[in-house]
Order: sequence, then C-alpha cells, then structure tokens
Amino acid sequence: MDNILNITDSIYYVGLNDRDTHLFENMWPLPKGVTYNSYLIKDEKNVLFDTVKATKTHLFIEKINNILDGKKLDYLVINHMEPDHSGSISDILRAYPDIKIIGNKKTFEFLKALYGIESNLYEIKDGDEIDLGKHKLKFYLTPMVHWPETMMTFEETEKILFAGDAFGGFGTLDGGVFDDEVDIEYYENEIRRYYSNIVGKFGPMVQRAMKKLSGLDIKIIASTHGPVWRTNPGRIISLYDKWSKYETEEGVVIAYGSMYGNTEKMADYIARCLSDEGIKNIRVMNSSEVHESFIINEIWRFKGVLFGTNTYNNGIFPRMENLLINLEHKGIKNRVFGVFGTYGWSGGGVKGIVEYIKKNKWEMVCDPVEVQFSAHEEHYEKLRNLAKEMAK
Ligand code: FEO
Repeated sequence: MDNILNITDSIYYVGLNDRDTHLFENMWPLPKGVTYNSYLIKDEKNVLFDTVKATKTHLFIEKINNILDGKKLDYLVINHMEPDHSGSISDILRAYPDIKIIGNKKTFEFLKALYGIESNLYEIKDGDEIDLGKHKLKFYLTPMVHWPETMMTFEETEKILFAGDAFGGFGTLDGGVFDDEVDIEYYENEIRRYYSNIVGKFGPMVQRAMKKLSGLDIKIIASTHGPVWRTNPGRIISLYDKWSKYETEEGVVIAYGSMYGNTEKMADYIARCLSDEGIKNIRVMNSSEVHESFIINEIWRFKGVLFGTNTYNNGIFPRMENLLINLEHKGIKNRVFGVFGTYGWSGGGVKGIVEYIKKNKWEMVCDPVEVQFSAHEEHYEKLRNLAKEMAK
C-alpha cells in the first residue's frame, strides 16, 4: 500500500512531523521541528506503541486505519505519559473502544489525572511479557527517563527496543526515517540538545536504565523522537552513555550578557587568549541573542564554561541569570567554571554568578575578573590569566 512505512515486514512507523509548534514544552525552540514517533505491530494481536500530540490526532488515526485495513487494534502500550505522546490516547480509545491500554501503576495514575481514563487498563510489572503471536513483548520499567512512569518495551523476535524519549532528539524526519537514510550529523546536534534540555537532569537514572538493558541484543532502537536506529544503534547508545555520565570534550563556552558591548569586549579578548593557548573549540554566545537551550547544548559538550555579566540593578543581567537557573535545573556536573564582568557604580553581577557557582558546588578555575564599566590595558593581564587557568 502507498504511504505506509515499514520498520520491518510487520512493524510500521505511524509517527508524524510537527513543524507548527515553535516551543517544545512551551519553552525550548524548535527551529527544525520535532517528530512524535509511534509504531504499530501487526500480528495475531495488533499493538500500537505510544501516540502523538493532540494536534496531530486526525492524521495519526488515518495512518493506523490504513495499516490495520479493517483489523482490530488490540493493545496500546504507553511507554511515556508526557502529552507529546499521550495527547491522542482519548481519541484512540474512542476509535477502538475494545482496546486494552498497557502501562504500569504510575502510568495509570497519570492517565486518570490527565485524561480521566480509568477503563480498558492492562497493568504490567517490571519484566512482564505478552505474546502477540509471532512477536513477544517484554516490559522494562525505566523511571525518570524522562518521567517516573517511563518504561521501555523490547520486542524479542525482531529485537526492537521501543525506547520512549530515550535516544531521541529534536528535528523532523524529512523523508528519511532510519539512521542510514539521513545525514546523522545533522540530527546528532539536535539529539544532544534534546538530551541536555529535556532528559539531562536524570543522568544517573539514564545510567541505571542502560545497565538494566545492557544484556539485550538490540537490533533496532525506535525512540519517540527523531530517527530510527537500525544500522548503527551502538552509536546512539554510546552517545547516551557519554552524555549521561557528564563526559566532555576539550572546548570552552563563553556565555555573556552585555548591554553596551563592554562585557562582550572582555568575552572576545578571553576567547582570543584561549585560542593563543591552543583551544580550538571556543563558543562565544550572547545570552540576549541565543536561547539558553542552545547554550546548554554546547555546555553539555565542552569541559570549560565562562560566564560574563554586566551588573543590572545590583544583580546578574537577567538573561544570564535565566541561563544559570536552567543550568542549575539540569544538575550540570564535571565542568570547570570562570567568571568575568562589569559594574557601573556598585557591583552585584559577578558576585551573583559566583553565588550560583558556590551553591551548586561547581569548580572555579580562579578568582573572577570584574572591572568598572569597561576593561582597559591594566585589566588584560587578569583576563589572560583567567583564560590560561581555563585552558589548563
Ligand atoms: Fe517526548 Fe518526555 O516527552
């Protein structure tokens, strides 16, 4: 049949692209859009894995009906309840009133609280299995990857892991769906941005889930966002392992706030000094211009972080403080930090950033460098020293 996308002979892709939503979770920019991936197994029992955001329900049900071609939908497995995946559950229930909804105890608590659904439930526990005919499903509870009810489902015959949010990323699937059909470099940056923005706080839980799944012979990873990994699932597994251990590459992110260019001048000077020290990956990012989503993504990659701020009403420049609040939320670890900035008549900006650093027990490479209004000849040695300490 036309317009039906097979993952394998009897497993189908029924996900959808979203190019209309500008902010994921009403917070994180989506310049390249996002997918809500969903999958369908056809067997003696037909099973759907997760749904899509409510705005896409109509197209979603059309796709499912095309594939079922008059057959029954027996089960809906809910690996994750966040509304980007659960938004169409009520409509699925209306379209297939005999369906059984498979989830764990927490899933059903959320299902009732979000949508008032209390019927058609089939509760599973960690390690439970269900036979579909040729296929067999096994359920693994993986709490906090990304919510407490999160689980993953492994199909044992074709060895496909339905992974929920794990291993997924931002970016629509423009034609190609599989890792071997797309320019994977294009997606990797968006996958790290998704990881660092959405899942990043839960690194230890991601590690726990990966240990739990480590014995499985996984041939295909089918996440709820981004490409399906059928040729090189090992690549995304090892990236996830690295990110969730907070491992880094050599490089420095200089994020700054500057009203009239004086703090920016310091940022550029430090960047030049870092280059003199042989650092090749330097990202100078203006917090007024670049959304913190993208700054956090770079910080997730590199070891060094320099914060620059002017003083604004005796405090940190608000756009910079927003970045710090978000980094605190993400529980960033294993980085080295430095601070620089300016004040007019009373300080507060640099002091405010140092307080964040101390509160979070982040490591500082040396004392901050703070100047009145603008850096001049007499300040450059201190700025160069900050760059040298960072480069070490
Ligand atoms: Fe893609 Fe946690 O939702």
